[in-house]
Amino acid sequence: MSYKIRGLKKEYKGFKLYIDELSLYKGEIFCLLGPSGAGKTTLLRLLNFLEKPDEGEVLYGNKKYTSQNYLPPLEAMRQITTVFQRPALLKDTVWNNIIYPLKIRKEIIDKEKVMGVVEELGLTNLIKQRSETLSGGEAQRVALARALIFKPQVLLLDEPTANLDPGNIKIIEEMVLKYTFQEKPTVVWITHNHFQAKRVGHRICLMDKGCIVEARDKDTFFRSPKHQKTKEFLSGEMFF
Ligand SMILES: Nc1ncnc2c1ncn2[C@@H]1O[C@H](COP(=O)(O)OP(=O)(O)O)[C@@H](O)[C@H]1O
Ligand SMILES: [Mg+2]
Repeated sequence: MSYKIRGLKKEYKGFKLYIDELSLYKGEIFCLLGPSGAGKTTLLRLLNFLEKPDEGEVLYGNKKYTSQNYLPPLEAMRQITTVFQRPALLKDTVWNNIIYPLKIRKEIIDKEKVMGVVEELGLTNLIKQRSETLSGGEAQRVALARALIFKPQVLLLDEPTANLDPGNIKIIEEMVLKYTFQEKPTVVWITHNHFQAKRVGHRICLMDKGCIVEARDKDTFFRSPKHQKTKEFLSGEMFF
């Protein structure tokens, strides 16, 4: 599902997010970089319709949402999923966590299909284990399996691999890349890691102080950024 954002504003005490114009496309991984407090998570929460904007509009698919009607129908909401930095799993087995989205959507549980995802994420041996006993990397792989199991059209990732080891990062990156290639969802991936953005992103965006500094295709963003702030950010001179 695509998004077209116009004049989106969200204000908190001492912070203002303002996005003049931004489009997000199907089949694209859009990486969001920026110092902490830049408003990356706030933007993600707006895209997830968890937060209501003060002003502006979002064209989601072919329906327009504004602060007056910022609540899509349940069906549309259920096409969107978020994976957070800290996975919030049910205190239950890995299997029950992964099939949970299918259960709430009253979808048929095709064991073979579920096991396909489970295997790809290297979770086969953990399927009966309780979530409380998993390592951080295992828990995050379960969170990703749970997010992908119902084939979301929008995948929002809020620093999903922060604090994970390279092995787990690789599995997660490869899975998201494969899913994006096969199913053509719209993906927004917040990361603090430039190298990760280079590996997975199609377009890269730098946010600072609630605004978009620069959003460009990957090669242009890294090789010839236009804005001074982006240059400073990429060279490590911008503090965060
Ligand atoms: N629910 C909220 N209430 C008040 N302030 C908030 C809320 N959510 C975020 N903020 C503020 O908005 C700013 C941007 O936060 P956030 O979007 O989480 O930034 P980032 O994800 O880029 O680190 C911060 O100053 C934060 O304190
Ligand atoms: Mg954040």
